Parts: sequence; structure tokens; C-alpha cells
Amino acid sequence: MEYDIETEPLETLHCDCLIVGVYQNQQLSASASSVNHSTQGLINKILSRGDISGKNGETVLINAVPDSAIERILLVGLGENKPLSSKNFRKALLAAINSLKKTQIKSVVCCLADCEVIAGDGQWKIRQIIEVFNDAVYQFTTFKSDKETDFKVEKISITLPEAELGFASAGLAQGKAIAEGISMAKLLGDLPGNICTPTYLAEKAFELGAKYPSLDISVLEESDMEKLGMGALLSVSRGSRQPAKLITLDYRGGEKNSKPIVLIGKGLTFDAGGISLKQAPGMDEMKYDMCGGATVLGVLQAAAQMQLPLNIIGLIPSSENMPDGDANKPGDILISMSGKTIEVLNTDAEGRLLLCDTLTYAERFNPDVVIDMATLTGACLVALGRVASGLLGNNDALCNDLIAASQISNDSLWRLPLWEEYQEQLKSNFADLANVGGKDAGTITAACFLSQFAENFHWAHLDIAGTAWRTGLTKGATGRPVPLLSQYLINRAYG
Ligand code: BES
Ligand code: MN
Ligand code: ZN
Repeated sequence: MEYDIETEPLETLHCDCLIVGVYQNQQLSASASSVNHSTQGLINKILSRGDISGKNGETVLINAVPDSAIERILLVGLGENKPLSSKNFRKALLAAINSLKKTQIKSVVCCLADCEVIAGDGQWKIRQIIEVFNDAVYQFTTFKSDKETDFKVEKISITLPEAELGFASAGLAQGKAIAEGISMAKLLGDLPGNICTPTYLAEKAFELGAKYPSLDISVLEESDMEKLGMGALLSVSRGSRQPAKLITLDYRGGEKNSKPIVLIGKGLTFDAGGISLKQAPGMDEMKYDMCGGATVLGVLQAAAQMQLPLNIIGLIPSSENMPDGDANKPGDILISMSGKTIEVLNTDAEGRLLLCDTLTYAERFNPDVVIDMATLTGACLVALGRVASGLLGNNDALCNDLIAASQISNDSLWRLPLWEEYQEQLKSNFADLANVGGKDAGTITAACFLSQFAENFHWAHLDIAGTAWRTGLTKGATGRPVPLLSQYLINRAYG
């Protein structure tokens, strides 16, 4: 998809479809009013017919526009004529793009940035248009013989009120970078486990490194991890024929001696549960257990594309979790890289085994902060559903920064407590700690486990089990939390 800023007046514009907003009570946005003028009152005529009331998310496609270089006009309801909430702005955008499904429209000029949004400037509006539109037209056709998709749209031009034009180029560049990061994370998530293996993820990282000179890629093989004493991580891949990889993406955009932000993403390319085998229904969805890792790839790509003045390290511990003669068994005791011993009470709690050694490994980068993201617990889905990711951490300032970024990016978070009392549940009779904490508060006890390996830095954990993909009819990866992390990094760079 191509995106650009359109500065030509609407009267002389050429395009397949112009998207303009209308409010309730037949009130026109500035752009609607301007085309109404140049089309001899066409918009007012349509509104007076009553086919669109102006409620947020309603649409009407005017399929023929007499004597105009604009082939079609899409009217989009924005609701009451007052500044929109950011959610309502996105809702209108989504309705707009979805109404272009199954049409032959190739070039679109979107004028919806002319409405006022509470706490959303021109730059934010451009970004949202690109992110929402790009997200909506994504379709995973890699393995379909018929590659035809629902959208023919190739180019989206965005108009902006004169006063806000100063924001345009930054908004465009950021919007494209974030949207492409999201697409990359979605594509990797949707790829099946027989293709998207740890080796495949490592190859994708090397491809990124070849494309962006500011990104250095290195990969630790199992023999390297052995030398580092990563007994927890390696115990998971022992049960799989696919060798584990620990992928490092090193982005140096900041001052030489400024401490890096470390992002860790769980890259479990298929989670069968191991000997504590999962049940069959829905097991296919465990190909998504690498969405944390995919987010790290998407965010580092976006950071490199935006040339953010920051140092960022991405770490992706990647493995499969399979049942096998050599797999972890309940009762096994592991020695982690930190030296702490772990009793495996459930081999399906493998994510924390990958992450704990990666957290210890992160210490060598002398991090400013460490943020991990993982599809870690089914309990998070029970607690927060598919709306908010779980947030837990040992530093209030970091957690608050992430919450602030989540509000701007519409990539919701909700913080859960990490109180000492919960650590009790991880006690083991035979080792320093158990890898599961019983059925209560599963998301919290998983984070408690991780916290024991994050004592030497400021750390936050995002449980994205509910938010990284959709199930049911619209099954597929969402690309979350790429928007959140991208916003966090933008805030760190320029805030
Ligand atoms: N990858 C799963 C978590 C998961 C489950 C994500 C369902 C999304 C949907 C993780 O490795 C896992 O299996 N966790 C266990 C932990 C339990 C054994 C303590 C779980 O949530 O059941
Ligand atoms: Mn598991
Ligand atoms: Zn898992």
C-alpha cells in the first residue's frame, strides 16, 4: 500500500473515491462542505434523503458524481458535531475502510483528519488513518491458490487542514513504519508452525539486519547457550527436533553510551504443552505462541525505519514445546543461568523457562529498562479477555510510561499487582522455585516467577495471551502490542 499527503484542493482532485465525514443532524465536516459546494449540493441532497443519519460508523457510498474528477464519494458518520474521542475516530476509520471491501476502488483520498479529536493532533490522526486502513486490508493469502483479496485499494492519500500540515511528514513516516511493523508481526503470527520455526525467525531477523544498517543481528545456537548455562531455556527445546535460537537485534540509534531499552519477546513457534500435553481443540492456535517475538521484530523494524535516536536491544528466545522421549518431565529439576534451580511441575509452563534465562542474559547489556512480552498464560484471557494486555512490573515509573503509551496508541493495558504474598505459591519442596503456582492468580504467579530473574533492573512484563490474536471467524494475529511499544519508544525518543 502506498500512502501520501494530498495538498491539492478538493475541487481539482482526481481519485476513485473521496472519503468525507458527516455529523448528525445533517451537519457537514469542512471537506464534506467543500465537495458539497463543488458538486451543486450533492451531499446535502443525499443527507436529506435520510439514508445516513450521521451516527458514528454509518457509511453511504455515492457511486457516481456528475461532472467531477472524483469518481465516488464515501460519506462516513462521525456522530455528534463535537470533538471525537480517539476510540470513535478509529471506529469511523474502520467503518470507512471496511465499506470499500469488494469494490474496484484503487485510489482513495481520505479527508477524515479534518475532524477534531480530543487529545489527537494532526500527526496522531495521520498515523491512525494509516494504521487502521493498513490493518483492515491485511489478508493472509500466502497459502491460498487464489490470492485475490477483498480490497483493490493501492494508494491512500490523506488531506490535512492547512494549520496542521506541519505535522504531516512526521505522521506519515511514523504511520508507515508502525503499520509495516504491525503487518510483519501479523504475518509471522499467521504463519504455521511447520514454516515459522526458530530457524525461520532467525532468518527473518537476518533479513532485517541486511535491510537496515543500524540493526546488527546475532544468534546464539544451542551450543552457545549450553556454555552460558541456560539450563531452563534448553530444557524446553530438548523435547523438539527444531533447535532453539536466541536471537539478538541490536539497534544503535542513540548516543554511544546511553543505556539501551531491552525488549524481550517469547518466540515459542509451537506450544503442544510438552509431556503435560494440551487438549486437541484449539491447539492449532498455539502457533501464535511466538507473537511476543514477532512483536520484537516488528518494533525493531519500525524503530530502524523511523531512525529513532535510541539504543534498543531486541531479544527473542525461540523454541518449540513438544512431547518427546527427551522432553522435560514433571518433577524434573533445572539449573537456570542465574543459578536458581527450578522444579518443573507442568511442562506446559514453558514460556517462563525461556524468559527467565533471557532475563538473566539481558543483564549484560546494562539495560535502562527491560520489557518482556509473552503469550504467557491462559489465565490472562480469563482475567482481561481480548481487550487489554496484562501489565506487571517492578517499577512504577516504567509501568506508568507504558500505560500512557497504551492510551495514545489504543493498545490497552491493565496493571495487575505483583505483591510478595503471591510469591508463596511458587514454593517448591525440592528446588528454589516451582515453575507453576497453582490455579489461582495464574497471570500474577507467572510474573512473580519472572520477577525473580529481573531483580537487577527496572522491568515490566506484558502478558499478551488475550490480545495477540483473534479466535473464531476472524482468527488471525493482531500485531499487538507493536502499536504500544512503538509509541513507548517514540515517547522515550521525543517526549
Ligand atoms: N502459551 C501458553 C499460554 C496461552 C494459553 C496463551 C492459551 C494463549 C491461550 C503457555 O505456554 C501455557 O501453556 N501456559 C499455561 C500455564 C499453566 C500450565 C500454569 C496455561 O496458561 O495453561
Ligand atoms: Mn505452554
Ligand atoms: Zn506457551
